[in-house]
Amino acid sequence: MTKVLEGKKVLITGSGRGIGRACALAMAKAGADVVVHYRRDQDAAERTAAQIRDLGRDAWVARAEMEEPDEIRAMFDEVARRWGRLDVFVANAAASAFKPVVELKPHHLDRTYRTVVHSVVHAVQCALPLMAGPQGAARDGRIIAISSMGSDYTLPRYALLGTAKAALESLVRYLAAELGPRQITCNALCPGVVDTDSARFYAGEQYESYRRDVIAHTPLGRLGTPEDVADAAVFLASDASRFITGQVIRVDGGLTLLTGGFESLV
Ligand SMILES: NC(=O)c1ccc[n+]([C@@H]2O[C@H](COP(=O)([O-])OP(=O)(O)OC[C@H]3O[C@@H](n4cnc5c(N)ncnc54)[C@H](OP(=O)(O)O)[C@@H]3O)[C@@H](O)[C@H]2O)c1
Repeated sequence: MTKVLEGKKVLITGSGRGIGRACALAMAKAGADVVVHYRRDQDAAERTAAQIRDLGRDAWVARAEMEEPDEIRAMFDEVARRWGRLDVFVANAAASAFKPVVELKPHHLDRTYRTVVHSVVHAVQCALPLMAGPQGAARDGRIIAISSMGSDYTLPRYALLGTAKAALESLVRYLAAELGPRQITCNALCPGVVDTDSARFYAGEQYESYRRDVIAHTPLGRLGTPEDVADAAVFLASDASRFITGQVIRVDGGLTLLTGGFESLV
């Protein structure tokens, strides 16, 4: 049976670990070849790439600091040299300072917005020629951004990343409108709380109580897994999503359906 991403060429930022890694493995299982991008954790990226090769797909690692446009361009130049094309770009990498707004310094603002927002503009500009067919003809392409519920819900110490993700979701809609005529779709996935290093870093010593509270407010009764997000990413990367563009799709087990204040009525 043909796999849904058979032969597709995919680049996923931050795919050595966490959600990006799960996306890389799920897409490889669906038949894709994958560039595993990393910034610091080369070992994790190499391990993910080796797992993909064990699945019988092509995989190689690329290092780039997503704050630096030149490094992003060099990574896409390497994609051009090796593959000459790209079908799917997943903007997953993110990092931020988790602080109240009043404590944010200029370098926190710069670094987070460069990583989460500016990098996606630079990367998409680099990806576009690789997503075009011969003589620049339209050819199906997919751009998928990983957002966060902090884009429209106010979470403690999350204003910096939340506002960056809000800009990212807006960018997704603009890209969808601009790139539709080239047959490139652009959508975002919006996870709730997913059990990864960054969720643990965000909650710090309160991780266990945070985890319990989130589960209690999640209709499906558990935290998200990286694989929950990855399966949705495979759908968005596949032909099955061909007429969906400019959308932000929640993958949160229903966490954002409930509001506080009604507990005494339950
Ligand atoms: N976990 C959650 O609960 C949750 C919820 C909502 C949304 N999300 C979103 O899902 C995405 C993945 O999150 P995660 O939990 O899997 O995070 P993670 O485990 O902390 O992984 C983050 C990845 O981003 C890369 N990265 C960070 N800063 C970078 C930079 N400046 N340049 C290049 N690469 C950089 C890291 O690469 P290195 O390790 O090589 O440095 C790493 O691979 C993020 O966009 C996050 O905002 C996560």
